[in-house]
Amino acid sequence: MEPPVTTPRLLKTPDEVRWFANDLRRRGQTLALVPTMGFLHDGHLSLMREGRARCDVVAATIFVNPTQFGPTEDLSRYPRDLSGDLAKCGAAGATVVYSPEPSTVYPQGFQTYVTVEQVSQGLCGDRRPGHFRGVATVVTKLLALFRPDVALFGEKDYQQLQVIKALGRDLELGVEIVGMPTIREADGLAMSSRNTYLSADDRVRALSLSKGLFAMQAAAKAGEADVAKLVALGLAPLTAAQVKLDYLEVRDATTLEPLTTLTKEKPGRALVAAFLGTTRLIDNVALTLAGG
Ligand code: PAF
Repeated sequence: MEPPVTTPRLLKTPDEVRWFANDLRRRGQTLALVPTMGFLHDGHLSLMREGRARCDVVAATIFVNPTQFGPTEDLSRYPRDLSGDLAKCGAAGATVVYSPEPSTVYPQGFQTYVTVEQVSQGLCGDRRPGHFRGVATVVTKLLALFRPDVALFGEKDYQQLQVIKALGRDLELGVEIVGMPTIREADGLAMSSRNTYLSADDRVRALSLSKGLFAMQAAAKAGEADVAKLVALGLAPLTAAQVKLDYLEVRDATTLEPLTTLTKEKPGRALVAAFLGTTRLIDNVALTLAGG
């Protein structure tokens, strides 16, 4: 029988987190951590449900991390709904939610940052300077604080997932980093907290991202290995929808190195970023060559 849904306990300070996590460990219970920036959708909730399936207890974090936003980005208008989020976390199986103040995470005198080198380069790393340094720093802090058994992240932020896998390995944090499939709306649009910014017209045009990626995926499955041809296929719907392209690239699925040809041994990943008005959306899919 499913346990009854209760509102998760809200933790505000590192001491409260340490007390909670130490108590769990003393009782021999395993912990899954789901870091988020809030304004939760089904993608986030799927991470919590998977965490619940893998571990005894799930903790979520809700923190709009200032160090991963550039000076001209949407930090101040990033959507927030803490009370709605708490209810959703409870329904998805989280027991506690850590939602600290920025001055708690970055107090006066803070000066230690984490930089992940190769996989942070190119793609969003080039377009959003400092972004992955901010992500890597806050995620390292959260992993060091909670010391979870498992931490779950969505594949929608595919480069971010590779950055976090690298830091978990390199810093020997002893946590299993789990990437979970992108959750999509019925028409294919990848779920994102930023979709809330889209006008009705931009919402329709935003479908060109997944449409292009799906066309590339189908062509690879049918045997097309030439990356230039795949990219041309993916670009067609974006051009037709007149979206402002940031990038559309095919990379090695693990190292994120650029690819010119897909092979069965080296699965690829098609990754796109584009602007709909002032809203920047990203999406990606796996590219597996026929028989691969
Ligand atoms: O994916 C996100 O929501 C954020 O980048 C993360 C991983 C919670 C770090 O702030």
